Amino acid sequence: MKRIAVLASGRGSNFQALIDAIRDGQIPAVCVGLVTDNPAAYAITRAREVGIPVRVVDYTLFPEKGAFESALLAEMKSLDADLFVLAGYMRILGPGIVREFSGRMINIHPALLPSFAGLHAQRQALEYGVKVSGCTVHFVDEGMDTGPIIVQACVPVLDSDDEERLADRILAEEHRCLPLAVRLYCEGRLALIGRRVVLDKAGPGA
Ligand code: GAR
Repeated sequence: MKRIAVLASGRGSNFQALIDAIRDGQIPAVCVGLVTDNPAAYAITRAREVGIPVRVVDYTLFPEKGAFESALLAEMKSLDADLFVLAGYMRILGPGIVREFSGRMINIHPALLPSFAGLHAQRQALEYGVKVSGCTVHFVDEGMDTGPIIVQACVPVLDSDDEERLADRILAEEHRCLPLAVRLYCEGRLALIGRRVVLDKAGPGA
């Protein structure tokens, strides 16, 4: 059984997808904690409903980013997790934290990386005019949304889309892809070759 911890800043629907997948036995893991930078995050309610410990590191209470990152790192370390999942965590993590959890921290992003990294990915896709977008689950490295890709899924971009409609269509795929990527990680089936993530052929169903 792997120990996973989740970082989320807001609504937490991807966190909920993980909670549900673990409950249903789809992921061989226990969720040992939610860490959030936002005391008003709805993700906190989701955690409390199922008894997952919550650590709030309120960004606004720190004089500068370095102090915040130190506190965040301390909370993360104290959870003793095998894997950290960024599920709608909306701040860029400093290199100290990224290095500490290298190879065991993953992120979900609402676009087909390397297109549309950063904030408002769905808006960026609409404005660019792509006909297909989607979501990406990737390992976190020191760049912004640049780490090795684990799972991607695509959705059509329709002429009638606004940002919200496109975001909803992508979100449905996020809720499928994130539990899948976490499951593959927890089953020990991911191998890194260069920057390519490949499925371990020895695993079940590979
Ligand atoms: C999701 O769409 C996630 O991909 C995105 O924020 C949303 C969080 O929703 N993350 C990013 O944009 C990271 N740069 P949720 O709180 O309901 O999971």
